[in-house]
Amino acid sequence: MDDPKELVRLDLEHVIHPMQDQRHNQEGPLVIVEGKGAIIKDAQGKEYIDGLAGLWNVAVGHGRAELAEAAAVQMRALGYASGYAGSSNIPGIKLAAKLAEIAPGDLKATYFTTGGAESNESAFKIARFYWRMKGRPDKVKIISRQEAYHGLTAAAMQATGMRNFWMQFEPAQPGFSHIPTHYCFHCSLKKTYPECGVACADTLEQQILAEDSETVAAFIAEPVHGAAGVIPPPPEYFPRVREICTKYDVLFIGDEVITGFGRLGSWFGLQQWGVTPDLMTFAKAVTSAYAPLGGVMVSEPIHQVFRELPAGTIFNHGYTYSLHPVCCAVAVANLDIFEREGLVEKARTTGKYFQARLRELDSLPGVGEVRGLGLIAGIELAADKKGTPLPSSMGAGMKVFKEAMARGLSFRAKGDTLNLCPPLVITEAQIDSMVNILGESIKVAVA
Ligand SMILES: Cc1ncc(COP(=O)(O)O)c(C=O)c1O
Repeated sequence: MDDPKELVRLDLEHVIHPMQDQRHNQEGPLVIVEGKGAIIKDAQGKEYIDGLAGLWNVAVGHGRAELAEAAAVQMRALGYASGYAGSSNIPGIKLAAKLAEIAPGDLKATYFTTGGAESNESAFKIARFYWRMKGRPDKVKIISRQEAYHGLTAAAMQATGMRNFWMQFEPAQPGFSHIPTHYCFHCSLKKTYPECGVACADTLEQQILAEDSETVAAFIAEPVHGAAGVIPPPPEYFPRVREICTKYDVLFIGDEVITGFGRLGSWFGLQQWGVTPDLMTFAKAVTSAYAPLGGVMVSEPIHQVFRELPAGTIFNHGYTYSLHPVCCAVAVANLDIFEREGLVEKARTTGKYFQARLRELDSLPGVGEVRGLGLIAGIELAADKKGTPLPSSMGAGMKVFKEAMARGLSFRAKGDTLNLCPPLVITEAQIDSMVNILGESIKVAVA
């Protein structure tokens, strides 16, 4: 076994981490060495419930030898083949066909990437390309929402609605704007649901008109805001958004990077409200994170543009690892596990239990709101039920996180909101432990 202290020293010396911060520079990282189901173990041998399923992605749980085997079999046969036009591979074809089977509506064709941000970048480019091919080249703008998280490559970062993610990297990418969202606990329109009539959805129409619809290519939204603190929409929100997008010929991009593959109790999140987007981006749980893979599924009219490109026209967009055979083989095996173990159905039933148990924490002092859907939830700490923030000097979210880690539960705190998203295979007994640890940690940290 590697010496845990030496591992931390080498990490501090040589690794630049994503989202690196000063605290971690001092303390060093938690070095995680193995996992089984919903449990992970660190280099010191301490176990934790993985309350965020890795980074919202380890849907089938840790330690699935079957996925390692699928990768090994494919690597032995063919470790890599280009996915550029003119060549293809068996796992890529099988995966695309499987996705067409489980995706809603006319989403039948997939462009593959290696992660969420790349998928959203690709969706923006496909949207612009589509309108150009349709003879409407001025339709280029992308509208997204405050609080949105769409990844951190250049355009995805600009669509992300939390300004801390782009302020350090200005100048801003042109052509992006953000509208208010359904953050009812802190409504930026100062309205109250349901009397508001979901006015935040109507701001999409206002923004399209303000920009001129002939300049707007697409609107992008996560079915449930994830990174911003797990914020589900009111039920009327997405049907209204769909209507507006259709009315103004604005393509609707559903960012299913977190909500895809069972998280809300349906294969894809927007199915909760009977809504089908024109483009649907996914990543994370498609392989349960055992291999990096993402993609964009497109509707029939968009796919038709690709099938009927005019002579001499090339879709000039590609990644070396698009359609990577090993990642696609892992995804096929992962989706087999989903079907064999009925994980989408399980997420629906376990999700109800999870939501009900978490609501028991709502009455604790320091808990402002408990919210969520299926197997994803946010606990927003606040001084009262009106959402008055706790003093920032208190660092309540981080304090609760540290208390929970000491008791064997890992998750992610976004400011004073605790983000929870366990593997879909979590048991009710493990949910009980999560709730107990959260309750104790909140009592100790926010008292
Ligand atoms: C909704 C959503 N979209 C996109 C991304 C970006 O994915 P990636 O980190 O794989 O680029 C994330 C990452 O958490 C996400 O939550």
